[in-house]
Amino acid sequence: MMKNSVMLLLGIETSCDDTAAAVVRDGRTALSNVTTNQDQFHEKFGGIVPEIASRQHLTLLTATIQDALERANIGLADLDGIAVTTGPGLVGSLVIGVASAKALAYAARKPLYGVNHLHGHLFAPFIETGVEPVYPFLALLVSGGHSQLVRVASPIDLRVVARTRDDAAGEAFDKTARLLGLPFPGGPAIDRLARDGDPQAIAFPRHRAERGSLDMSFSGIKTAVKYFLDSPAGHAAKTADVAASFQAAVVDVLIDRLDRAAARESYAAVVLSGGVAANSALRGAFYAWSQRTGVPAQIPHLRFCTDNAAMIAAAADRQGDAVRCNASSLAADPSLPFCTFR
Ligand code: KG4
Ligand code: ZN
Repeated sequence: MMKNSVMLLLGIETSCDDTAAAVVRDGRTALSNVTTNQDQFHEKFGGIVPEIASRQHLTLLTATIQDALERANIGLADLDGIAVTTGPGLVGSLVIGVASAKALAYAARKPLYGVNHLHGHLFAPFIETGVEPVYPFLALLVSGGHSQLVRVASPIDLRVVARTRDDAAGEAFDKTARLLGLPFPGGPAIDRLARDGDPQAIAFPRHRAERGSLDMSFSGIKTAVKYFLDSPAGHAAKTADVAASFQAAVVDVLIDRLDRAAARESYAAVVLSGGVAANSALRGAFYAWSQRTGVPAQIPHLRFCTDNAAMIAAAADRQGDAVRCNASSLAADPSLPFCTFR
């Protein structure tokens, strides 16, 4: 039912503002991984403009897929299937990837797999690392759109055990970067600047979980940075100190919730994933937590942390028939699994 003989998959990812295609063997080896970044088109707006993102996907996707196939040195006929992100994401962006994947699958008579973008992130740590998932694992999934803790008991048995009540961690990085006058996307900019700052310079508030809850919140930290910057102390502060102190507050909240979730149920491993998994302070704190507790930790290579298509193929390979869908109808297909977490 789950893993069948699918071996060589083309992955397509257009859920947000990255146009991506990749060829992956066995869900583990990326023969190619092409991500065409759209940042230059969104930068001047300080955030992603959905209409621009979908138009750029339309312009860039065909060449991106061709590039992925060429770099992997294979043709469409060699593929065992096509995997595409079906949600969650910007609807106008998703439609471009889904329509392209359906057309290719139909024309080349290949199976089509519809993948939940978040599931893609969860399997990114197992690409090019030689590490196999051990179940159940606890994933700390932190991206621009989501912050969740997910219990993964098998590739198709996933349960969200905690989520953010407001901003996602990546969103907090992006909004705080804007307050600091840093370029978009803000996460990498804060990460770089924070290396020259003191994480203890300013004691920004940490969200405390209510009794019995594992939920997190990041909008308070962002607002605290805003008030601080408007105060006399803020005018005098070094930007690097503000960046480092903000980053430390976010990391503290994430590690606190990881710690609480791991105390509630037992796990064979912990996984860090999503764009914010690229953050150097978070990676360090995550490994430190793993060392302290003895629970093995797995983090994706940097190139598989932020949105990419290899992770979509990797998830499809593991989820197999559970996410197979119908390519024969080019009309909107109600069978497409816009699969959400339980
Ligand atoms: O997973 P992703 O590429 O897209 C979504 O699915 O949302 O994540 C993008 C997010 C952005 O908010 C970006 O600022 C953040 O990941 N990010 C980082 C770093 N690199 C990317 N945040 C903190 N530190 C980084 N080094
Ligand atoms: Zn993502």
